[in-house]
Amino acid sequence: MCAGAIPPDGTVPAQSLTQYRQGVVMLSTTAQQCPFVPGGEAGGAEAGRARRAESNEGQPTLSFEKNTPYVDYAGIDTLLGLQRPRTAEPAESAFIIATQVMELLFSLVRERWEAARDALEADDVPGALAWLRRACNAQDVLNDSWGLLADMTPTEFNRFRDSFGEASGFQSYGYRKLEFLLGNKSAAMIRPHKAMAGVANELADVLERPGLYDAALRLLHRRGLPVPADRVERDWTQDYEPSAGVEAAWTAVYADDKPGNDLFLLAEALLDVAERVTRWRHRHLVAVKRTMGAKPGSGGSNGLTWLSRNAEQDVFPELWSLRSSV
Ligand code: HEM
Repeated sequence: MCAGAIPPDGTVPAQSLTQYRQGVVMLSTTAQQCPFVPGGEAGGAEAGRARRAESNEGQPTLSFEKNTPYVDYAGIDTLLGLQRPRTAEPAESAFIIATQVMELLFSLVRERWEAARDALEADDVPGALAWLRRACNAQDVLNDSWGLLADMTPTEFNRFRDSFGEASGFQSYGYRKLEFLLGNKSAAMIRPHKAMAGVANELADVLERPGLYDAALRLLHRRGLPVPADRVERDWTQDYEPSAGVEAAWTAVYADDKPGNDLFLLAEALLDVAERVTRWRHRHLVAVKRTMGAKPGSGGSNGLTWLSRNAEQDVFPELWSLRSSV
C-alpha cells in the first residue's frame, strides 16, 4: 500500500478519491508503480527507507541534487510566496496567514462533509460517522486558528485596513460552499463570483445538490422514520426551513438513546458539527467586535449587526429544537 499513490502534479481524479472514501478501491500499488519510490526500489518503499536509514547511520539525508523533495511535494516555495502584506504593519502578516490557514481548513472540512453526505446517500452510517468525526477534528483546528488574531488591536487593524479595500471574507467561495452544504442556500450568494466561471459553476453544483442534513433526512426516511415527503425530495436550491415533521422524526430517534442506535449516534455527530460551526461564527463575531467595534464592514455590510443575525441561526435546527421537548 503506497500512501502517496498520487501523481507528482498533486492531482487525484475525483472519481478515485470518492471510490477511495467509499472503500471501493484501496490505493494499492507496487513499489514500481508508486511515484514516491524513486525508481521503484527493490523490496518496496519500506525496505528502501530502511536501507537509506542504515546507510545514513540513522541520521536524516543531507544532500539532494535539486530542490528538497519536501519543498516539491508540499509546494512550500509557492505557499510562502503567497503572503504579500501591503503595509509595514506587522499585524497584517498574522491577518493574511490566519485567512489563508482558514481557507485551507474550509477546504478540508468541505471534503469531509461531502464524504459524510455521500456515505449517507449510500446508506453507510458507520462511514458517515467516521467522516463526521474527522470533520469535527478539522473544525476544531479551524476554530483554534482564531488564536492567530486574538491579540490584534483596533489601532493595528486600522493601520492596514485601507490596504485591502473592498476585500471581505464574505467573498470567500470556500466558506460559501460550506454554508450551502449546511443547507443555507441562496442563489444570490453566487453573484459575487460570476466573473469566475469555474467558481460560479462549482457553487451552483453544491447549491443544486442535497446538503449534508438533507442526506441525513433522506436516510431517516429510507429507514422508515416519518420524515415529511417535502424533505425527502425538494428543490435543493432553496434554503432549508425548519419543519415540525422533521423534529418529530428526530424525536423518535432519540427515544432509543443507546449507543447501538446508529441513527441516534448520527444525530449527535451532526450536532457536534453544528456546534462547531456556531463556535466559528461566534469567534469571528468576537474578533470583529474586538478589532473594529460596530463600524461598517469592508464588504459593504453594516458589520456586527449583519454578522450576528447569521451567527444566531441554528445549524440543523430540529436537532436543537427537539431538546426543548424530549
Ligand atoms: C479581525 C479580523 C476580521 C474582521 C474585522 C472581519 C470582519 C468581517 C465583517 C465586517 C464581515 C461582514 C461582511 C462585510 O461587510 O465585510 C465579515 C464577513 C466574513 N468574514 Fe470576516 N473578519 C475578520 C477575519 C476573518 C477571517 C480570518 C476569516 C477567514 C477566512 C473571515 C471570514 C469571513 C467570512 C466567511 C465572512 C462571511 C460570513 C457570512 O457570510 O455569514 N473573516 N468579516
